[in-house]
Amino acid sequence: DWAPDSFIETTIAQLKEKLGNDKVVLGLSGGVDSSVAAVLLHHAIGANLHCIFVDNGLLRKDEFELVLDSYKHMGLNIRGIDAKQRFYDALAGLTDPEKKRKAIGRVFIEVFDDAAHEVQDVKWLGQGTIYPDVIESVSVKGPSATIKSHHNVGGLPDFMKLKVVEPLNTLFKDEVRNVGKALGIDPNILGRHPFPGPGLAIRILGEITPEKVQILQEADAIYINNLRAAGVYDKVWQAGAIYLPVQSVGVMGDERTYENVVCLRAVESLDGMTADWCHLPYELLAKISNEIINNVKGINRVVYDISSKPPATIEWE
Ligand code: XMP
Repeated sequence: DWAPDSFIETTIAQLKEKLGNDKVVLGLSGGVDSSVAAVLLHHAIGANLHCIFVDNGLLRKDEFELVLDSYKHMGLNIRGIDAKQRFYDALAGLTDPEKKRKAIGRVFIEVFDDAAHEVQDVKWLGQGTIYPDVIESVSVKGPSATIKSHHNVGGLPDFMKLKVVEPLNTLFKDEVRNVGKALGIDPNILGRHPFPGPGLAIRILGEITPEKVQILQEADAIYINNLRAAGVYDKVWQAGAIYLPVQSVGVMGDERTYENVVCLRAVESLDGMTADWCHLPYELLAKISNEIINNVKGINRVVYDISSKPPATIEWE
């Protein structure tokens, strides 16, 4: 049987040995892997671990503040960076999903590199890489893939020349969760649904504007809060709202409206490679739809995605 406690003990001892008094920079995303990697490193080297958490303006509603707060409560040496405007500027005018992903990857690298430069004499880059990331060399998605595709464009950013330390690279996802639990990490962080690196940018079809981000954040928050309140959040593998570039006619009081559509997506899956749409209860869908239409200005219609993967993907872009 695999025991998280002995993994934790051995890993911390090995990290101490390997890192000594060296400094490490690590980018936190709010996700499970980077959070568990950070806490392990923190146990080993304390304040010599410099965490960086970037607000790209594409996170869920209030996510940056809430997650930053819980990282601070864990005692991590962390710096939050508001880079929203840099991301919005880079995304302006882009509609192609891959161009949006590339722009986000590029700005992330710039922002992270600037922040890493401010850590004097840093020697290591910490990463939350897990075993499936190591073996899945064909994966084309995720921030690290974006970084790789920039390898030969004008030389490497400096932080990528650092030595790499990856304390989770022998573990599977469920083992990472068990380690996180044994480390006492907030269950809210450990149990959260996967969220794509490019965030809401690939859940807003077409061009990104701060206004659309805000509308989607409101609708998504109503959706996710209702899933939690109904006790179904943990049974769903991943859920989120999508902002469609479609306007349709509606009626509000005596007024005719002509506004956008939000699509709700919820899937059951083991690893994201295949997925079935969730059969959420009709009453719950009705409640969410009403709440969104009554409270989110700019949305007058809500639809539910009943496509499975394959042939549909989980995300719409
Ligand atoms: P798809 O849409 O391909 O998604 O069925 C499968 C899983 O991958 C996530 N995803 C991404 N994650 N960067 C990421 O870090 C991306 O560009 C990206 N695109 C999709 C998606 O949320 C799902 O969990």
